Amino acid sequence: MSSMKQALPGSRPLCAVSAARAEPQRVMCDGRALVVWMVEDDRPAVLDDRCPHGNARLSAGYVLYGRIVCPLHMWTFGPDGRAQAPGGRMEAAGPMPRSHECWVSGDQVWARIAP
Ligand code: FES
Repeated sequence: MSSMKQALPGSRPLCAVSAARAEPQRVMCDGRALVVWMVEDDRPAVLDDRCPHGNARLSAGYVLYGRIVCPLHMWTFGPDGRAQAPGGRMEAAGPMPRSHECWVSGDQVWARIAP
């Protein structure tokens, strides 16, 4: 199934799985900044690397229970890009990050980046 996906237009390797397991990775893709992390051992997530709260890089944060935590004010994001704010107050300065279809193939995280 992964090899079939790789044949789809726009599919590309983003980073090594081992790197994404170690810490969130910032990857530039066609001029767009992405963050790659591992939700579970073999399940990656790829979002736009920008926190909608205050524009921080999510890739500068860390992973907790499979969610990426923004380093500035601790908003957390799931692989679907949905945010949770501490205390539940959500006052976003920008749009929620888009999530991108991704998977593991071999030792790489692959994704199909939405245009
Ligand atoms: S900038 Fe990310 S939580 Fe405030």
